[in-house]
Amino acid sequence: MNQTESRKDEHVRIAIEENVSTSHNYWDDVKLVHNALPEINKSDIDISTKLFGKKLGAPLIVASMTGGYDKAKKINENLAAAAEKYQIGMGVGSQRAALEKPELKETYGIVKDYDVPLRFANIGASQIVSWGHKKTLGNAQKMIDMIDAHVFIVCLNFLQEAVMSEGESNAKGCFDAIKKLAEDLDTPVVVKESGAGISFDVASRLSKTKIAGIDVGGAGGTSFAAIEHYRSKLRFDRLHERGGKTFWDWGIPTPKCILDAGDATDWKLPIIATGGIRNGLDVAKAIALGASCAGVAHTFLEPATKSKHSALFEVEVIVKELRAAMFLVGVDRVSKMADIGAEYGFKK
Ligand SMILES: Cc1cc2nc3c(=O)[nH]c(=O)nc-3n(C[C@H](O)[C@H](O)[C@H](O)COP(=O)(O)O)c2cc1C
Repeated sequence: MNQTESRKDEHVRIAIEENVSTSHNYWDDVKLVHNALPEINKSDIDISTKLFGKKLGAPLIVASMTGGYDKAKKINENLAAAAEKYQIGMGVGSQRAALEKPELKETYGIVKDYDVPLRFANIGASQIVSWGHKKTLGNAQKMIDMIDAHVFIVCLNFLQEAVMSEGESNAKGCFDAIKKLAEDLDTPVVVKESGAGISFDVASRLSKTKIAGIDVGGAGGTSFAAIEHYRSKLRFDRLHERGGKTFWDWGIPTPKCILDAGDATDWKLPIIATGGIRNGLDVAKAIALGASCAGVAHTFLEPATKSKHSALFEVEVIVKELRAAMFLVGVDRVSKMADIGAEYGFKK
C-alpha cells in the first residue's frame, strides 16, 4: 500500500473504531412540530423525489467516502447494493488514488455493477488547483467514466488539510478552478464540504458560478480533525495530535448551513445536507429546513464493512423513520416538507 492507500484505510478504520463525532449534534436542536391530526394515510406517503433530473426512491444519498485500496471495493459494493435496492444516490470517495494507480479503478468502478440512479464522482479541491484547468478537465472525465457518474463533486476539505501532517493547504486559486470547471465540464458540478460547512458568503460566491448544487457538509457529525487527531496519535506525532483535538468541533452546524446557503442562493440551487445525519428523523428535519436531499456517511460506514445485508438494513431503517416523521407532521410528499418549517429557523 502506498501513502494515499494506507491513509484511506486508516480513515475508515478510525471512523469505525473511535468516536470521531463533534461534541454536539446540531440536529438535536431542530424540532419538527407534531401534528396530532395529520389527516393522511401513512401508506399514501410518497418519499420519492427528483435530484439532478434523476428519480430517487427517497431524498437520500450515500455520501462520498471511500475507494482506492483493496478493502474499499467491498465497502463500495455493499453501499451500491443498498443504493440500488432503495434507489437512492451514492458518491464514492476521492478518486485520486485510481488516477495515480489505474489498477485501483475497480475499487470505485464496482458501483457500476449496480443500478444506482444517481452516482457522484469525487475529487479534492486542492487537487484540481494543482493540476490546472486543462489537466483537471481530462482527469474529471476519467473519474466520471470510472463510475459512469451523473454528477462531479469537488470536495472542500481544508480543515483536514490544515490539521494533518501531510496536508495540502494551498487554497489559492480554488474558486477560479471550480468556476472554470463548472463552465467547461459537460457533467454537472457540485461543491461539497466535508464536515466544516459552507457559509452564507461562500454559498453566495459559488452561486455566481455555473455549479449545479451545493452539499453543505456541515459540522455535527464526522469530524476530520478528530480523525486526524487519532491518525497522528498512531504515529506518536504529538504536534498534529494536539491540532486535531483543538479543531475537533470546528465548523458551521449543518442546519445553519442549509438556511444560510439557501438564502445566499435564493433557493435556486439544490442543497444537499450532509453532516451528522443519523436517522430518518434527521433526514426529515433537513428537508423541512429546505434541503433537497440528505447525505449520510458515518451511519452507513460500519454496516457497509460487514455485509450487503447490514448496509441494506441501515437504509431500510432510515427510510422507515423518514416515512414515520412525515406522517407525524402530516405531510405526504417530500416537496411539501419545506412548507412546514422547523424550529431551528424558517426557510422563508
Ligand atoms: C471514512 C470517511 C472518508 C471520507 N472521504 C471523503 C472523500 O473522499 N470525499 C468527500 O467529499 N467526503 C469524504 N468524507 C466526508 C463525508 O462525505 C461526509 O461529508 C462527512 O463524513 C459528514 O457526514 P457524516 O456526519 O454522516 O459522517 C468521508 C467521510 C468518512 C467517514
